[in-house]
Amino acid sequence: MTKRSVSTEVKRNDGRAKHGNTPRHVAIIMDGNGRWAEKHGLPRISGHEEGAKAVRAVLRAAKEAGVKYLTLYAFSVENWSRPKSEIDGLMRLLRRFVQKNEDDLHKNQIRLRIIGRTEDLPEAVQQDLAGAMERTAHYSDSQLILALSYGGRAEITDAARRMAARVKAGELEPGDITESAFAEHLYAPDIPDPDLMIRTSGEYRLSNFLLWQLSYAEFYVTDVLWPDFREADFQKAMKAYAERERRFGDVR
Ligand code: IPE
Ligand code: IPE
Ligand code: MG
Repeated sequence: MTKRSVSTEVKRNDGRAKHGNTPRHVAIIMDGNGRWAEKHGLPRISGHEEGAKAVRAVLRAAKEAGVKYLTLYAFSVENWSRPKSEIDGLMRLLRRFVQKNEDDLHKNQIRLRIIGRTEDLPEAVQQDLAGAMERTAHYSDSQLILALSYGGRAEITDAARRMAARVKAGELEPGDITESAFAEHLYAPDIPDPDLMIRTSGEYRLSNFLLWQLSYAEFYVTDVLWPDFREADFQKAMKAYAERERRFGDVR
């Protein structure tokens, strides 16, 4: 059945936090690892290694603040164009990170999720991730979502392709393609849209991150380089968010 969706989509906004709340979902563009390394006269990979410490700190801070969903942009589809040595280093680091931190996920009852074209990741990385995801799948309290081989346009394109296939198979009518039906075909449809997007290292751009989901997110940019980002920096972002007034297109 084809349903007109305008009123339902407007209603969807009603459940969203408008003012002064803790964000339910925080998404972070972890940028500045290379610049951190350069500043310290170290190879770029050292910046990525140091960045892993920031990830652990932010996991703690998010848990403490009561943030339920934390999405971290760890590797973009565009990042495949970096030198092979850097990509290999990042993939090694990713495996090590997952192996070393699974205990913490269990201790804190955090479910690990991945969004992105994960089929492009090396087989060993895919296996490690799949294992950790499976072993943490029963936790329902909070989630850590890693965006890997992720691109916002790729995600939207993948969703469009899946919907087109369903239309072709006769399961859907073109008129059934509403915003909410489309969102159901994104990588992790059950996860609410981010309330807050943080980008480190002072760049004011999205770099193809969560293009669909960030439509009404609050943005927070800090000059702090990702490897230097710690609990206090996260708390600063929380405070800034609490002072924002979200309108969702409505009047105040
Ligand atoms: C972010 O740091 C990490 C990844 C993109 C994997 P960068 O490596 O982009 O660091 P800068 O931007 O060169 O400083
Ligand atoms: C965005 O950072 C991707 C990640 C943090 C994984 P980039 O460093 O790749 O983005 P640009 O090149 O500055 O736009
Ligand atoms: Mg960068």
